[in-house]
Amino acid sequence: MRHSSIPNLLSFGLALFLAAVFFGSVSLGQISTDDAAEDDTAIPFALPQSGPFKPADIQIDNDKAISDWFRSAHANAAAEAFSHWDDDGEVRAACATCHSGEGFRDFHGLDGTEVGVVNGTIDTGGVVDCGTCHNAGLANVTEVTLPSGVVHPVTGVEASCLTCHQGRSAGATVVKATADMAVDEPNSDLRFINPHYATAAATWLGGYGQAGYHYDGKDYSGRFFHARPVASCNSCHEPHTLEIAFEPCLTCHQADSPRDIRISRQSYDGTGNTSVGIRSDIANNAARLLDMIRQYTAEVAGVPTIYDGTRYPYFFKDANGDGAIDMEDGSPVAYGAWTPRSLRAAFNWKLVTADPGNYAHNPHYALELLYDSMADLSGPLGIDMEDLGLLR
Ligand code: HEC
Ligand code: HEC
Ligand code: HEC
Ligand code: HEC
Ligand code: HEC
Repeated sequence: MRHSSIPNLLSFGLALFLAAVFFGSVSLGQISTDDAAEDDTAIPFALPQSGPFKPADIQIDNDKAISDWFRSAHANAAAEAFSHWDDDGEVRAACATCHSGEGFRDFHGLDGTEVGVVNGTIDTGGVVDCGTCHNAGLANVTEVTLPSGVVHPVTGVEASCLTCHQGRSAGATVVKATADMAVDEPNSDLRFINPHYATAAATWLGGYGQAGYHYDGKDYSGRFFHARPVASCNSCHEPHTLEIAFEPCLTCHQADSPRDIRISRQSYDGTGNTSVGIRSDIANNAARLLDMIRQYTAEVAGVPTIYDGTRYPYFFKDANGDGAIDMEDGSPVAYGAWTPRSLRAAFNWKLVTADPGNYAHNPHYALELLYDSMADLSGPLGIDMEDLGLLR
């Protein structure tokens, strides 16, 4: 069934508003009808029984949470992340866990169904609603299985963030796809492997979570523990607006914005510039890696590629190397000359760049993946890594 999302949301917001009035203030874990039903003293009407009736004077503690959330990306029903399935009329089970609160509850068995699986398709029109994070059942979700196969223990609301922001594939997916293939030989069976989007948790868990393609013989920084007061997603992200609370950062950092923060005294990108945020080093090395991937596809694989971030599958064919994507019957031709070496580098590049917060989530892991991917490509390209002056 196709829903019109906006009226749904509005009536949903109104229902919450009323629920808030009925049951008074709510705290984390208590926005559940069960809790309310147990409370015999809850008064089932919105206004006091006798005047003067001044609705504006009635304190509604949920009000701010609702309006903050309502303006956030999690509530944006029109976003591609929630409206992608509108034409199909239903969200596929494989996608529903992260693309609707209802699917999330189904996956974790919070709706009383089997745990670890979405039972069938889910109605369109869902967003990351209140009951995704405010759900007493989340207490029973004690671990999350990452795309790498690593099982990570979770507590409380982090179970929610880590479920949806973990990405959909990992280095292990690349290893499996390229097993037994000659490393520099294009193979038409290979397709670009997309880590998916907003993969913050994957970056954050670093080498321990094994999201990236890890090169043989290299060690990778683990989870970015940062410093104690900033140990969880919500210690930096306000959970309703999703914005970064920058003030607290200034306890330990001196910078004009999160993007300008730097602790490292060395330059990783060969510029020698340590007056900019560490984000700049990551961005520069990512840009250099993309250049090397392009160069490798042209010189070693024999078919140049072009990256276009606006359309799936992002890497396209440019057989004559003229800088324009090849078209066939009016459609861009997906790149089809991947080798194991270019595929793993492209996977790491996309994983790092798919997370705009990589510099705060795990700068070390991001820099290591980029460096190792460049080092791997440098051999067949005849580039001496020493000449680039990069640090790992
Ligand atoms: C593990 C959780 C997860 C699963 C499973 C998942 N996604 Fe996503 N997906 C996300 C998140 C998180 C985003 C939000 C990225 C953003 O826009 O910030 C996203 C974004 C998207 C977008 C929007 C991309 C854009 O350019 O804005 C599309 C389309 C999408 N997913 C398709 C799918 C499809 C199709 C499936 C099932 C085959 C799927 N997703 C399964 C987590 C998931
Ligand atoms: C993505 C997860 C998430 C979603 C969605 C969410 N919340 Fe929250 N909410 C939290 C977390 C985490 C806290 C705890 C904040 C803290 O301890 O500082 C919280 C705290 C609250 C509080 C306590 C007061 C406050 O603002 O800190 C209220 C009330 C609340 N949420 C209501 C709601 C309502 C109503 C909705 C839906 C409109 C909602 N929340 C959606 C995660 C979420
Ligand atoms: C049910 C899946 C789900 C859960 C649970 C979830 N998210 Fe999200 N999150 C998404 C999707 C999907 C988007 C993209 C929405 C869009 O494009 O409008 C997103 C977007 C975001 C954004 C990007 C905001 C922006 O302005 O682009 C941040 C930050 C974020 N989530 C943080 C969190 C945190 C922190 C938690 C845990 C408290 C959390 N998310 C829980 C699915 C989820
Ligand atoms: C140390 C603070 C910190 C922690 C901890 C943290 N983040 Fe972030 N996050 C940031 C910063 C800073 C950005 C980037 C903001 C920018 O540059 O626009 C960001 C960006 C994001 C984005 C992309 C937002 C966008 O604009 O598309 C998502 C999604 C996200 N974080 C989710 C999470 C999740 C989920 C966790 C927990 C696993 C987490 N973050 C932990 C600081 C943090
Ligand atoms: C309690 C102190 C403390 C707070 C608060 C804090 N940080 Fe940090 N931050 C550190 C320490 C210590 C490091 C170095 C950690 C390491 O490299 O292992 C660091 C490293 C970083 C780095 C990497 C810098 C580099 O050059 O490697 C970034 C980016 C960062 N923090 C962002 C943030 C943001 C954004 C906030 C606020 C949301 C924040 N931090 C809050 C202590 C803090």
